[in-house]
Amino acid sequence: MILGVNIDHVATVRQARRTFEPDPVAAATLAILGGADGITAHLREDRRHVDDRDIRLLREVVVCEFNLEMAATAEMVKIALQVKPDMSTLVPEKRQELTTEGGLDVAGNKKLLKEAIAKLQAGGIRVSLFINPEQDAVDRAREIGADMVEVHTGRYADTKGKAQQSELRRVIDAVLYAERIGLTVNAGHGLNYFNVKPVAAIPGLRGLYIGHSIISRSIMVGIERAVREMKTLIEHHA
Ligand code: PXP
Repeated sequence: MILGVNIDHVATVRQARRTFEPDPVAAATLAILGGADGITAHLREDRRHVDDRDIRLLREVVVCEFNLEMAATAEMVKIALQVKPDMSTLVPEKRQELTTEGGLDVAGNKKLLKEAIAKLQAGGIRVSLFINPEQDAVDRAREIGADMVEVHTGRYADTKGKAQQSELRRVIDAVLYAERIGLTVNAGHGLNYFNVKPVAAIPGLRGLYIGHSIISRSIMVGIERAVREMKTLIEHHA
């Protein structure tokens, strides 16, 4: 199972002072040395963390999979086609949100998403849709031509006890269903060192996309070690 490390929050610290450090591009290189199989960055409309310079340089230095997370807007599609990440993950984006809050409303934005997917794929970029763990969203994602889906684990991460078990069940069902109908399936959001194992144990999952918890731990132990520790948990999920 691959681990994609989201380095947005390195840029969040930089932007707190609008200075040059810490550099998310340097963080990406160190995360790769720690065992990251991919690097993710979310270029937001308001550039609140990573910016256009970061995206350009990340494309240069990320020798493994570079995943550009983005809204399906004309501006972002244009940038993606110039930068050429290995894949793009399309997410809903709201200005006021602290982080991506929910999966895409695929049915409600079918035309817009389908066009963005087609343009990105024509540029050689694989496209993943960030979706809630629902069968309908999986069906719609396949219908409009997505290569992959990323199943949202945020509600699993935000709950406890019985509620968490039922959220895990929803994630498992969505992953298994998506795989059965021929999609490549990833999962992510809210995963940390304490809740990752049951998700890592889901058969058929291609990869996990994790940001905040790894970057948080990296402040204490360094990013290489933080990534290595997460990789170890994922590999030894039993
Ligand atoms: N996957 C997607 C689509 C996201 O939007 C995010 C947050 O940027 C993540 C994964 C990573 O979430 P977290 O930072 O909670 O690990």
